[in-house]
Amino acid sequence: MALRHFLTLMDLSPQELAYLIDRSITIKRELAENGPVYTPLKNRTLAMIFEKSSTRTRVSFETGMTQFGGHALFLSPRDSQLGRGEPVGDTARVLSEMVDAVMIRTFSHDSIESFADASSIPVINALSDDYHPCQLLADVQTWTECRGPVKGKTAVWVGDGNNMCHSWINAARQFDFNLRIACPEGFEPDQDILEAAGSRVEIIRDPRAAVEGAHLVTTDVWASMGQEEEQAARMKAFSGFQVNEAMLDAADDEVMFLHCLPAHRGEEISETLLDDPRAFVWQEAGNRLHAQKALMEFLMVGRVS
Ligand code: CP
Ligand code: NVA
Repeated sequence: MALRHFLTLMDLSPQELAYLIDRSITIKRELAENGPVYTPLKNRTLAMIFEKSSTRTRVSFETGMTQFGGHALFLSPRDSQLGRGEPVGDTARVLSEMVDAVMIRTFSHDSIESFADASSIPVINALSDDYHPCQLLADVQTWTECRGPVKGKTAVWVGDGNNMCHSWINAARQFDFNLRIACPEGFEPDQDILEAAGSRVEIIRDPRAAVEGAHLVTTDVWASMGQEEEQAARMKAFSGFQVNEAMLDAADDEVMFLHCLPAHRGEEISETLLDDPRAFVWQEAGNRLHAQKALMEFLMVGRVS
């Protein structure tokens, strides 16, 4: 099987991504019907390198490996030689000798690319400063499950032009939907990522105007991991960019609200938004498990249908 990595959504073709979404939905249904009896990764090991905190990503990858009959190995820089300066390329070569795939959550996207360059096993980006592609698999799965095909629909990103925003831009390209981005001046997504998406992605400064008639609205924290010192300045810059029930009222009647979580109630969302029937965030979080199982199966076993 040819070696494949998943560092951004652009590493797979639109057809492969569509397959993964279908497969995630099937894997979820079969788990509900039969329990965890399907074990395509029996005796396989996933190494999970976390240089930043996580709840959903760690639990979903680890549980996914258990359900598939394999094992997940948690590595933090604090207890591995990575934290003492062993080069990522050397770590990649060593892990390639022992485990079957690696999942990495780190700061610089370049370090994931360096890791992948030296790796002879699949490498999965579990969040970098620039992208969070695994989250988008779960998000598109949730959108598809609840509302059918996403092609041609309109999503709105409200807030920081951050790693999640970049992955939403890539998703708009790969799944062929429109994306409007409402962000304050100075917090735009990366210009190259934006330009590569062409006219299907546009910046509309006013969040109220951006959500007009939209099918999906999503946001994220105003200060991402690693930006803790900017929290106070960001709170000021983003005032007026809170997603609340009144904002969703301007969207399509069938609008869905997603948030990758963790959320800060009273900041990027109103205190009560997650209780609104238009919010699908618990289903979205749960889909991390199913979408990543489909991804791991694809990278370690290949297509099965
Ligand atoms: N959404 C997400 O990646 O959550 P965690 O940081 O808890 O993994
Ligand atoms: N943008 C957030 C996403 C967390 C899942 C961060 O990078 O902290």
